Amino acid sequence: MPALRPLTLGQHQVWPPVVLAPMAGITNIGFRRLCREQGGGIYVCEMITTRALVERNPKTLRMIAFGDDEKPRSLQLYGTDPEITAAAVRIVVERNLADHIDLNFGCPVPKVTRRGGGAALPWRRRLFARLVRAAVAAASPAGVPVTVKMRKGIDDDHLTYVEAGLAAQEAGVAAVALHGRTASQRYSGTADWDAIATLKQALDVPVLGNGDIWEADDALRMVAHTGVDGVVIGRGCLGRPWLFADLEAAFNGRPERRLPTLGEVAVTMRRHAELLVDQFTAGARNPARGERDGCTDFRKHVAWYLKGFPVGGELRRSLAMIESLAQLDDLLGKLDPAEPFPMAALGQPRGRTNSPGKVFLPEGWLASRDDDTVPEGAEMDDSGG
Ligand SMILES: Cc1cc2nc3c(=O)[nH]c(=O)nc-3n(C[C@H](O)[C@H](O)[C@H](O)COP(=O)(O)O)c2cc1C
Repeated sequence: MPALRPLTLGQHQVWPPVVLAPMAGITNIGFRRLCREQGGGIYVCEMITTRALVERNPKTLRMIAFGDDEKPRSLQLYGTDPEITAAAVRIVVERNLADHIDLNFGCPVPKVTRRGGGAALPWRRRLFARLVRAAVAAASPAGVPVTVKMRKGIDDDHLTYVEAGLAAQEAGVAAVALHGRTASQRYSGTADWDAIATLKQALDVPVLGNGDIWEADDALRMVAHTGVDGVVIGRGCLGRPWLFADLEAAFNGRPERRLPTLGEVAVTMRRHAELLVDQFTAGARNPARGERDGCTDFRKHVAWYLKGFPVGGELRRSLAMIESLAQLDDLLGKLDPAEPFPMAALGQPRGRTNSPGKVFLPEGWLASRDDDTVPEGAEMDDSGG
C-alpha cells in the first residue's frame, strides 16, 4: 500500500484524499453540506458552463453557492472555447467565487459530445492544450489551482488519457482526475483501474482515480492497485452520504463502517430534505416556494436511500412525491426504525448504469486531431446539464 498522504492541490492540503465528484443535479450546496457533515475531503459543486458564467446567467450565478465553512470551495467549469474559459476563470478569481477550479472533459452525453465538448474535446489535442493553458493562466495569478477531469478517451480505438494528462501537466494543472471508462462506455461495464495506474505512472502531478468506488474499502483497494494520490467518489454516495464517514475512517486506518438502521437512514433523509429546503429558500425570488422546490429536488434521492430496504411500493411512491417537510415527516414515521441495513446492497452499483452507445461527434472530428478550431455551438449557455 503506498503511503497515504494529504492530497495537495496548489496551496490546499486535503485530508482524507477524497473528492466528491461533481454531479449535475446532485452536488448542490445542500447535498455537499450533508456529505461534509460526515467527513473530510473536497466537495465539488455542480458543473457550471463558462458561457453562462460570462453572460451572467442568473440561474448559473445562483448555482455558485458555497457554505461559509466550505474550504476549499471547489467549482467545476465546462467550456470549449479557450477565450470564454479564460474570461469565466477571471470572473471566478476576481469575484472570489471559488478556491479551486476543475475543468470537465468527461461528459459523454450526446448533446455535449456532438458539439465537440466534454469527453470529445481531448481528441483535439491542440485545442485541449490551449484551453487548459488559458484556464491556468487566468487562475494562477490568484493562486487558484486548476485540475482536469477526463475519461480514457472516446472509445477503445481513440484513447487520449495519457497524452491529455501529459498536456494538462505541461499546461500547469495541479492534478488530473481519470474516470476509467471511455465516452462510449458511458456508465456501463467496470471502470478500468489499470488505466488509472498507467496514468499515475506517466505523470508527476497528483492523479485522482475515479470509477466504481462503492464502499470505503474499494477506495483503499484503488489506492493500492493504482498508487493514486486521491479518489473521486460519484454514484457510491447517492443515498449514502455516510460513505464519507467510512472513507475518513478507512484512510485513518480505522475499521468501523456505518450500517445505519432504517430509522437512522430516515434521520439522514430528513436532514437532506431540510438542507435542500434551506438552499431553495435562500436562492428563491419567492421564499414561500423554497419548501416545495427543496422537497421536489429531494424526490430523486428517495429510491437511493431506500435501496434494498423492505419498504412497500406505495410508501416509496408517496415519498417520491412529497411537497412539504410535514408530509415527509408523516411518511418517514411509517418506516420501521429498527429495520437493519440491507447487507445485500453493499458493494452494489447505484445511480446510472446505462449501456454503451455510439459517441456522437461533430463532422470530421476524428480525422483531424490537430485542428484547434473552436467547435461551433459547443458553448452551452445553461449550466448543470
Ligand atoms: C447524475 C450524475 C451527474 C454527473 N454530472 C457530472 C458533471 O457535471 N461533471 C462531471 O465531470 N462528471 C459528472 N458525472 C460523472 C461523475 O463525476 C463520475 O465521474 C462518474 O459517476 C464515475 O464515478 P463513480 O463510478 O464513482 O460514479 C456525473 C455522474 C452522475 C451519475
